[in-house]
Amino acid sequence: MNNDRISCKQNTHKTDLSLEIAGIAMKNPVMVASGTFGFGREYSEFIDINNLGAIVTKGLTFLPKEGNPPPRTYETPGGMLNSVGLENPGVENFIKKEMPYLNSLSIPVIVNIDGDTVNEYYKIAKRLDNVKNISALEINISCPNVKQGGMAFGQDPQNAYEVVKAVKEGTNLPIIVKLSPNVTKVEKIAEAAVSAGADAISLINTLLGMAIDIYEKKPVFYRTFAGLSGPAVKPVALRMVWQVYDAVDVPIIGMGGIFTWQDAIEFILAGASAVAVGTANFVEPQAPEKIVAGIEHYLKEQFEENIRLNDIIGLAHKANID
Ligand SMILES: Cc1cc2nc3c(=O)[nH]c(=O)nc-3n(C[C@H](O)[C@H](O)[C@H](O)COP(=O)(O)O)c2cc1C
Repeated sequence: MNNDRISCKQNTHKTDLSLEIAGIAMKNPVMVASGTFGFGREYSEFIDINNLGAIVTKGLTFLPKEGNPPPRTYETPGGMLNSVGLENPGVENFIKKEMPYLNSLSIPVIVNIDGDTVNEYYKIAKRLDNVKNISALEINISCPNVKQGGMAFGQDPQNAYEVVKAVKEGTNLPIIVKLSPNVTKVEKIAEAAVSAGADAISLINTLLGMAIDIYEKKPVFYRTFAGLSGPAVKPVALRMVWQVYDAVDVPIIGMGGIFTWQDAIEFILAGASAVAVGTANFVEPQAPEKIVAGIEHYLKEQFEENIRLNDIIGLAHKANID
């Protein structure tokens, strides 16, 4: 088992959860998933954001984007469909209006970026490169809710390679590449991203789904298809984290239906160095904080005193090998 994926700082006591992913020092492995936490400020009255491992901001494009017409969300059994369409203020407004608040946080800020073309990814990465207090870029090559770009880049290894390469040329920041589950061989996309210079992989984005209004007799969403998230996708996400762990040697940030600390532990045992909480933020904004406490409790309860988080990443793979 390769345990070089995170380097835990010296364990001064038995429940130290601190780690480093792609050069980003985090006090614990729990982040929030892009698009489910705004730019942070919206959640600041519900939780102490500085208790998280890192914040990941909602998807940013070079120019402002209005997003899709309503409805944008739809509840499904065990989850939700969304078709937000990357509504965002664009990179300049983000720097002016959102960075001052993000600068006030004491945790790493990871900025999620998206583009219609390879050149747009390059431009946005370059623009953010010299902005202070950004710890890493997460490249979304997996958004299912836009007309162009997005998921198309994450469905073909060559396209994924080209986007990551372009972003790498535009920035010196660490790059996390966010993969789509809407592929048959996720590990091939992960390998292409890593060969182009990805410092970490995050997965999964939403699964392509749809809903039909039986009285209107037409699809609920303007773009017909939408992205499924929440507990319903967790087994798929877990399987993909497992596969990517076997395929590449960079750290993995696992997400997809994580609502509880038990979910988070499953992802870590499958190979994730860190986890991101998404849809759960809409149901219970305190979920990420509770997950941090639960992971700490689990480590204390299940292992001897000096266990490090590092020691349990991918541990379930061991059991599978005879
Ligand atoms: C309303 C909503 C908006 C999202 N927006 C983004 C986004 O802007 N960029 C991105 O990479 N992922 C986006 N996602 C995907 C989430 O970050 C996450 O990958 C996915 O929802 C799976 O995790 P979950 O089941 O815990 O929500 C969005 C998800 C939801 C539900």
